[in-house]
Amino acid sequence: MELLSYTILFLISLVSTFLALNFFSKTRAKTRHYPPGPLALPIIGHMHLFGSSPHHALYNLAKRYGEIISIRLGSVPYIIVSSPEAAREFLRTHELAFAYRPQSIATRYLGYGGHGFAFAPYGPYWKFMKKLCMSELLSGRSLGNFLPIKREEIQGFLQLLSIASADNKSVNIGEELQLMVGNVIWRMSMSRRCSGNEGEAKEIRMLVNDVSKLQIEFNIADYIGFFRNIDLQGLGKRLEVTHQRFDKKMEEIVREHEEKKEKERGESVKDLMDILLEISEDESADMKLTREHIKAFIRDIFGAGTATTALGMEWTLAELINNPRVLKKARDEIDSVVGKHRLVQESDILNLPYMQAIVKETLRLHPTDPIILRESIQDCKINGYDIPAKSGVFINIWAVGRDPNHWENPLDFHPERFIDENGQTQIDLRGQHYHFLPFGSGRRGCPGTTLALQLIETTIAAMVQCFNLKIDGNGEEGGTVDMSEAPGLTLYRAQPLICLPVARLDPLPLVE
Ligand code: HEM
Repeated sequence: MELLSYTILFLISLVSTFLALNFFSKTRAKTRHYPPGPLALPIIGHMHLFGSSPHHALYNLAKRYGEIISIRLGSVPYIIVSSPEAAREFLRTHELAFAYRPQSIATRYLGYGGHGFAFAPYGPYWKFMKKLCMSELLSGRSLGNFLPIKREEIQGFLQLLSIASADNKSVNIGEELQLMVGNVIWRMSMSRRCSGNEGEAKEIRMLVNDVSKLQIEFNIADYIGFFRNIDLQGLGKRLEVTHQRFDKKMEEIVREHEEKKEKERGESVKDLMDILLEISEDESADMKLTREHIKAFIRDIFGAGTATTALGMEWTLAELINNPRVLKKARDEIDSVVGKHRLVQESDILNLPYMQAIVKETLRLHPTDPIILRESIQDCKINGYDIPAKSGVFINIWAVGRDPNHWENPLDFHPERFIDENGQTQIDLRGQHYHFLPFGSGRRGCPGTTLALQLIETTIAAMVQCFNLKIDGNGEEGGTVDMSEAPGLTLYRAQPLICLPVARLDPLPLVE
């Protein structure tokens, strides 16, 4: 939250504490049995308890009040879910009641007035798009068609490290990974790249940054109706300007795709926008896709997929630097399965169970999207508690992944916990095991899981195979990196991962 937001909250809470004593006795409903929670302040409710790292704040509240808690952000009721058993109730037993997400003013605005997918109500449009994701857009077959893009971008990243290694120069690994993943997702979606310091790539990168920041910025008007018509934080204006800039760029790209389609098409691989434009012209399709739907969908894909995936890679590398035993074991696995004369590829990952376990263990401790956001559509009773319709729900998957009732020594980085007696990986990460939910669960679970895993596992395996990473300023191998988290709703690292890459294989092995 910005300084302005804190100031607003502070002023409101100051006024409200004067009213608090009288009010407290009335805030608890008498007839219904709501989950427990701390006492609310009038007007702001529990906003003051949130702090800058919501998953930590929710975790601390759970330690005090239990696995299901009710709070109020302004006038909006929220339920906090913090244990695997409770998560199962919300995500499985009552799945349909919680298959919705609350829409903020920003998500509605940036999603073309509610035409987006990630925040769409669970209904015909969402179902249509979900089916498309699974059959056309993000299916195994489509991702196979995009293999050359993924391969080129990973190789480009390795090349950059190789040059830095030859020049003895350190690299901000996190920044480069964001660009690499951004390139993959933009090329898959619209045949555009976002790395480069000038021209369109720079424009796209700045747009993405601005849109992403606005989407998660705290907006008091989302919680206190009084502020809805007063643009106290200037957010409304910024939303308008940024959305217009974004839309102008998207229109340009859509038009270019339409013109290209008329001229040629056929043999080259279709990007997501080509596929969506084709579907929008299909009179027999179950839904009529509009231009707004297409632009909003593409925005959702890069919004949901870029930072989360790149951060998954960054946290994995940081853990490997801090755990030389694990790094050595991963390297031995790659050397014995792939060797040193060709670059490890996506298709090798099936035969690298320890590498898969490393990525799982990283996402258990560092789920890059640490809180699942849902909303109830109907009144429900869970564990004897009344959950009213239209309650927001925070499922703290960061807390669930370190629950001591389910994980032995939960804070240790120990990939072996994901290896079974036959040496294969165990505990699936697609939402069947409620103590491990990095990609959510059920119908609303992440549709980008396969793509994210392909990118993270292949990139990390290639880095392990080709480079040693020396920590900047430390000179020596064997130092440790700080594992603190930055504030915010996405799990960024507090300290950038700046390393000197040292080529382990020279020359770099080439893809066959
Ligand atoms: C490590 C990387 C990633 C992580 C940790 C992650 C995590 C998540 C989580 C926790 C959810 C909410 C699930 C739920 O409510 O049950 C989600 C939803 C979503 N993710 Fe991902 N994700 C990642 C990568 C991606 C990628 C690469 C894409 C697309 C290319 C993507 C697209 C989406 C979309 C569109 C949704 C909303 C789905 C819906 O509402 O139906 N994600 N993701």
